[in-house]
Amino acid sequence: MPLTTTSVQIEISFDLWLDRFSRFAEDLYPGRYTRAYVRELVGMAREVCSLAEQKQSVVVAHNYQYPELQEVAEIAGDSLGLSQYVAERQAPRVDFCGVLFMGETAKTILGDRSRVYMPDRPGCSLVASIDQTRIDNWVAHHPDGILISYINTDALTKARSDYICTSRNASQVLAHAARQYPGRRILFLPDKYLGAVVLSQTAVDPALVDLYDGACHVHSKIGETALEEALDRYPDAELLIHPECGCASSCLAKTMQAGPAFGKAYFLSTEQMLWHARRSPSREFIVATEMGMVYRLRKEVPEKTFYPVSYLAVCEYMKMNTLEKLLDSLENDRVEIQVDEEIQRKARAAIQRMLTIT
Ligand code: 13P
Ligand code: SF4
Repeated sequence: MPLTTTSVQIEISFDLWLDRFSRFAEDLYPGRYTRAYVRELVGMAREVCSLAEQKQSVVVAHNYQYPELQEVAEIAGDSLGLSQYVAERQAPRVDFCGVLFMGETAKTILGDRSRVYMPDRPGCSLVASIDQTRIDNWVAHHPDGILISYINTDALTKARSDYICTSRNASQVLAHAARQYPGRRILFLPDKYLGAVVLSQTAVDPALVDLYDGACHVHSKIGETALEEALDRYPDAELLIHPECGCASSCLAKTMQAGPAFGKAYFLSTEQMLWHARRSPSREFIVATEMGMVYRLRKEVPEKTFYPVSYLAVCEYMKMNTLEKLLDSLENDRVEIQVDEEIQRKARAAIQRMLTIT
């Protein structure tokens, strides 16, 4: 039975938001959450919720969004989890706070069932690192080659791909593809750091895998030095590392060689960081990803302590979305996400293939 109105309790109160923002976000966004601004945000959030109800919209926010967007959303989560959530909700409208490839992924999964809107149309440097001509050349050299694309890709690249993967399931997808098509060459794109981590986590012959050399400008800057400095400061903390980080493969090698001497490191998608932090016996964590995730972790696991590996790990694309723009989008239906139907059909098949193996 399709849900038509929000079934999730969203708590909007000045005292609650002021308390949460000052406890969990003050160091992340210094000076942003003044009393006056929080009052303004609370007013806008109430309008957002009432419009979302009128328009039967499900509002969702990626883990890197500003705290107020995470608060006003029915759910905050990682790129795949949010698309799966909106597919289950079966609402006629979705307002997706994230970057464009995420809105496109949601539209591809939902097809005609829902209209997808975004507060803005933010890009992503990882997606921008994809050049279709280079893929054409690789395909021309390897006509029976297999394309595995990370979810951070545009809809056209997804449509050209045999499999999609996310940071949650990339090693499973790679291992499955290598088993399914023995001896065939694989192009893994676009993130070279994720690709290197995944290669070292599976028994797949590296000689058969070509790694595209794309990277995210936020994560590639998170190097080994930043992690080592953080570990010096917080020696008992566990390391939660997004595999897009520039330090990911060298940290993986170090953890394998040095073991706990280098600290306990875990390579996780944003949502997996939350699951891990909840069940780990550790009380402290160093978080190597975009800072928005630190707010989510602190809010959901308040009894533990989370340190951002770097206060410079901010994705300006993600931060193009604001509560003002979300309200405007709900009022004026400004940015609707459209994906060509043929591209949707092919991209959906590649996503579906991933879902059947993970
Ligand atoms: P997640 O899929 O882990 O949410 O990551 C998306 C992303 O953009 C990472 O930079
Ligand atoms: Fe893209 Fe990097 Fe921003 Fe993630 S953090 S959305 S990969 S630019």
